[in-house]
Amino acid sequence: MGIRLGIMGAARIAEQQVIPAARRTADFQVTAFASQTPASRKRWQDQFPELRAFSDYEALITADEVDALYIALPNALHVSWALRALAVGKPVLLEKPAALTAQDAEVLRERANQSGTVVMEAFMYQFHPQFQWLSRALRSGLIGSVRHLYAEFAFLLTHPKDIRMQPALGGGSFWDVGCYTVHITRQLLGAPQAVFARRIDGPTGVDIHMAVQLIYPDKTASLRAGFDSADVQGVRVVGTGGELGLTHPFRPDMGEAQQWHNQTVDVVPPADLYGLELRAFLAAIRDPGGLGQTYLNDLVEQARLMEAVIRASQAEALQSF
Ligand SMILES: NC(=O)c1ccc[n+]([C@@H]2O[C@H](COP(=O)([O-])OP(=O)(O)OC[C@H]3O[C@@H](n4cnc5c(N)ncnc54)[C@H](OP(=O)(O)O)[C@@H]3O)[C@@H](O)[C@H]2O)c1
Repeated sequence: MGIRLGIMGAARIAEQQVIPAARRTADFQVTAFASQTPASRKRWQDQFPELRAFSDYEALITADEVDALYIALPNALHVSWALRALAVGKPVLLEKPAALTAQDAEVLRERANQSGTVVMEAFMYQFHPQFQWLSRALRSGLIGSVRHLYAEFAFLLTHPKDIRMQPALGGGSFWDVGCYTVHITRQLLGAPQAVFARRIDGPTGVDIHMAVQLIYPDKTASLRAGFDSADVQGVRVVGTGGELGLTHPFRPDMGEAQQWHNQTVDVVPPADLYGLELRAFLAAIRDPGGLGQTYLNDLVEQARLMEAVIRASQAEALQSF
């Protein structure tokens, strides 16, 4: 039997991606879920009759038939519930953004280490072969020395009731999709020296547009996140010897994904994005001191840079990083 996974919250991402991916692998077996909302609980009971249903997240965490948790709650609830799972020694696959402050991220890392287990932030895009191609190509010097990276992820969100529109739940385009642009830039270029950002807030008080400049000694990166435009995603890296990029770096399943290098364009073959993420989570669970630590450190560095960008957007002045 695989790792027995409990799902916290009857979230769309769990229903549409993570549960189906877990069902395709023998590594995980989804055994239970918790939903506080009676109508959602009923809908999931009808859809997933084999799962034990809880109305209470705490009961799910301590359930005997749950070895690990997948937390897909609104962003502001991630840390507190992940800490509860760590308190009983259970590993957590935690939706992005894992933590909304660097300090919270440090606490997550510390508690995970104390309990000898792991928290992995669910940046599934990094396990897709197209990202591995991009990363390898840059490391091998295919385009010479990198001078600029452009990354964006945006879509039109007009529903004021969506969790992404609620300031108290950790809403905002930068937390929702901007976190991917920051993560991919960190993965490919490392940490910048300084940060500049401009935000535009929407009627509910969350940012609906964030434009970011990351400054490195010999290069720059421009990032954009938004809830205020048509669907767009992409990454483009320009170097001294050429350029390359991905048309769908974050959700290659949402369109005709292509990877390109100068004039050469290749179609990206489909991959089991969320299945690859689960496989990485399993590897981290089995190696908490090695791979698990790598993901914990990544989670902390990610939160540090996200926080610096938000500070910069509030000050509208260059912030050292
Ligand atoms: N990796 C990815 O591809 C991906 C894609 C989409 C979203 N996400 C992340 O996954 C998380 C969930 O996103 P989603 O779009 O799936 O959300 P969603 O469908 O709105 O589900 C959120 C769940 O949180 C629970 N919840 C607890 N307190 C709540 C509150 N005060 N208001 C609303 N819901 C509350 C609800 O569960 P119950 O009522 O059932 O308890 C609800 O089903 C977010 O962190 C998001 O960033 C990741």
